[in-house]
Amino acid sequence: MSKVRAVITGVGGYVPNYRLTNAELEKMVDTSDEWILQRIGIKERRILKPEEGRGISYLAVKAVEDLKRKHDFDPLSVEAVVFATSTPDYILPNSAALTAYRTGLTRAFCFDIEAACSGFIYALEVAEGFITSGKYKKVLVIAGDILSILANYQDRNTCPIFGDGCGCVMLEATTEEVGMMDSILRSDGSIPEHLHVAAGGSFRPTSHETVDQRQHYIYQEGRVVFKHAVSNMVSVCEEIAKRNNLTGQDIDWIVPHQANLRIIDAVAQRLDVSREKVMINIEKFGNTSAGTIPICLWEWEPRLRKGDNIILTAFGAGFTWGATYLKWGYDPT
Ligand code: UT7
Repeated sequence: MSKVRAVITGVGGYVPNYRLTNAELEKMVDTSDEWILQRIGIKERRILKPEEGRGISYLAVKAVEDLKRKHDFDPLSVEAVVFATSTPDYILPNSAALTAYRTGLTRAFCFDIEAACSGFIYALEVAEGFITSGKYKKVLVIAGDILSILANYQDRNTCPIFGDGCGCVMLEATTEEVGMMDSILRSDGSIPEHLHVAAGGSFRPTSHETVDQRQHYIYQEGRVVFKHAVSNMVSVCEEIAKRNNLTGQDIDWIVPHQANLRIIDAVAQRLDVSREKVMINIEKFGNTSAGTIPICLWEWEPRLRKGDNIILTAFGAGFTWGATYLKWGYDPT
């Protein structure tokens, strides 16, 4: 009997309407368009304004509706919804259930996963396990964040980086030689303070004091995170390429987490993959955390061909990181 694999059969996405430009940030903190472009590679990022909508499920519903428009499927055939996000609508209930209800996926069991910027590849791994177990055939993976709620617009070290956005993929069972081929996922919880939101969780619940000290925003030791991101993403990408006998020539696309253009370039160079094979949209959307990789797939979908060798790679708070090797499952319609 042929092996059952999990394959992506459709992609949806959505980014909010409002464009926060570098020029606007120049009025909020001591920064410049030139510095942000040179050091990070971002021109603008999308922000969900309350006038447009609220909560990550607002973006997720739009992304699932986009998927439904392009890839006709019966909402009742979806058996599970796995939603990677660090910015759920509520601490409870989970945003997967809210999104599933509002998009008619009422037969699915739903839960969220929190793995920061690596959330999408972690969620894919979980969903793949459901499918290769043989018990489930169709799982929706959603990933996205509203990082503008965690960005401190008085801190120039962090606020230019983040944006809002959400993507989703349908994962289905196949016996063809396409889909998820391999993955390496890692975590290191030894130095969480280098990239964290200090308050608002069970360790330090929100109080007047934590709000006064602005501890409900993201704090990041940029240089430390940068070094860990490059070395760890390169290491897992090299390992996954080696064990699947993939040279730079064999790789059709790298889909890196969009945190910094210099990190993306360093990873591509070490893998010997030219820039035109690397999905890059950080200049338009910034870092949408779990959303970056599915938003790239959503934008590039018309250019992907069945059988393309694709490496997804991410690094984020935790630290969490990893690489996933997949063969694309369909040609554009
Ligand atoms: O997605 C999750 C994972 N996150 C990442 O992968 C992010 C990794 N880190 C980074 O991308 C970069 O470290 C940053 C973009 C966060 C910062 O860039 P950097 O080149 O590492 O800058 P730095 O923190 O070393 O700061 C260099 C200088 C400092 O000034 P002094 O002390 O040298 O005078 C900063 O104060 O740049 C200054 N600076 C800024 N200047 C203008 C920091 N932010 C800004 C700014 N505008 N927005």
